[in-house]
Amino acid sequence: MRVLFVTSEVYPIIKTGGLADVSASLPEALCSLDIDVRVLLPAYPAALRVAREKGSNIIAELEVGGHAVTLHETSIPGTSVTVWLVNCPALFDRPGNPYQNDQGEDWQDNALRYHLFARVAVLIALGQAGLRWMPDVVHCNDWQSGLVPALLPDAPQGPATVFTIHNLAYQGLFSAGTFRQLELPESLWNYSALEFHGRLSFIKGGLVFSDRLTTVSPAYAREIQQPEFGYGLDGLLRHRASALAGVLNGIDTRIWNPENDHFLDHAYGCDSLENKQLCRADLQRHLGLDSSQPDSSQPRPVLGFIGRLVEQKGVDLLLQVVPGMLQQGCQVVVLGSGMPHLERDFRALADLWPGSLSLTIGYDEALAHLITAGADIFMMPSRFEPCGLNQMYSQHYGTVPVVHRVGGLSDTVTDPLDSPSSLANGFCFSGAGSDAFAGALNRALGCFQDPVAWRRLQINGMKADHSWQRRARTYTGIYKEALTTRRATSG
Ligand code: ADP
Ligand code: GLC
Repeated sequence: MRVLFVTSEVYPIIKTGGLADVSASLPEALCSLDIDVRVLLPAYPAALRVAREKGSNIIAELEVGGHAVTLHETSIPGTSVTVWLVNCPALFDRPGNPYQNDQGEDWQDNALRYHLFARVAVLIALGQAGLRWMPDVVHCNDWQSGLVPALLPDAPQGPATVFTIHNLAYQGLFSAGTFRQLELPESLWNYSALEFHGRLSFIKGGLVFSDRLTTVSPAYAREIQQPEFGYGLDGLLRHRASALAGVLNGIDTRIWNPENDHFLDHAYGCDSLENKQLCRADLQRHLGLDSSQPDSSQPRPVLGFIGRLVEQKGVDLLLQVVPGMLQQGCQVVVLGSGMPHLERDFRALADLWPGSLSLTIGYDEALAHLITAGADIFMMPSRFEPCGLNQMYSQHYGTVPVVHRVGGLSDTVTDPLDSPSSLANGFCFSGAGSDAFAGALNRALGCFQDPVAWRRLQINGMKADHSWQRRARTYTGIYKEALTTRRATSG
């Protein structure tokens, strides 16, 4: 089976969040199942750099909407997965991140950029790009590739389409004028196609026109069919419920593995958890936190957070709860960047707690690994979380997660109050209130004082199977279903 995997981020080429991690590990796991996968990615400057370093071939020269476009073939670093870069310098070769300029403002021409990206995907999918390769399935991800299923003809012999929702909160909404500017087919301007309350919605292209829909956890698949998490699209998702499945993300254990993590000075596993304490001391030293042992038998717990500083991640709850944790003698380590007012509030708090609260504003892959290994508790009070990867990375590193019981967090974290101690691997709270979050953290801190119980939680998390192998097999099943649907019903 041949699959064109269309995505706007791929680790380690370009990453703003978990989509990049998934877009590297899932294609690799699919390849190991003998699926012939090509990943399609815009040629951002970082991607062109990789192409230069690794070497690349130009495999097609196209003209799309008045733009000259070249397709460069290279591979995802560290893997043998083929990646095709859509090179259109006027649209993609610019500083900043994929979606925003250096000032954090969305690029004005995002609609134009991802429309062109989608049209290139469509040309490849239809065998019109001059390549000797055509996919059976086109797998699109998030709004940036939402127009692909909408622009592919509804033909029974054409490729089947699968659309994965990584985050319904980002929809790719633009003005009605943009719809005309892009010269999209007039038939797509209605409520059962791309129109969303008078605006152009890229994500609706994926949600309406794909043969199969997936999202990144079973719980989120249910949640987005409810008004609270549906962002006005819950009705459409209920309508498409029979085509929608929730498949948990996995983690790449070659990159995230405490037994073999090149960012760490001390390796450890289930049988050598004492080395995790050395990682804690390394982290404390690295960040200038006091690493001396208090008199009590147990060390001072280190609480970690890594993530985008945005409303989704429950940063307001963190800001409310962290002072209480610091007062109890915990140390807190935060790594992230995002909304200026949340960065500012965290800076103010860090100023009040030098030596106890370490704040790093920015993106730092190495520090993310040090925190994941060195922290005792990982905090994820997300307001919503389609899947979340950090709780699974943490579990794999024996760092116990404390999470809001939503989306993928509720599918991956099991609380001792809900299940036997042989299964528990973290702490959950319900209702997005700071008291509930503080309550769960206090339960975790209580358990931390009992080394035997704590170790059991750690080991349960470390032994959980978060590998991509099984999950990739589920995707191949979904691809087959999509093909069956396409052959049977379209036209
Ligand atoms: P989301 O995609 O919503 O941001 P995920 O939990 O799925 O959340 O994935 C986030 C990914 O980005 C993880 O791999 C996490 O370690 C990484 N990450 C987020 N912020 C930072 C940061 N400031 N520095 C390093 N890595 C980060
Ligand atoms: C999104 C979600 C996150 C998920 C990631 C990868 O960014 O916010 O929960 O883990 O996509 O699917």
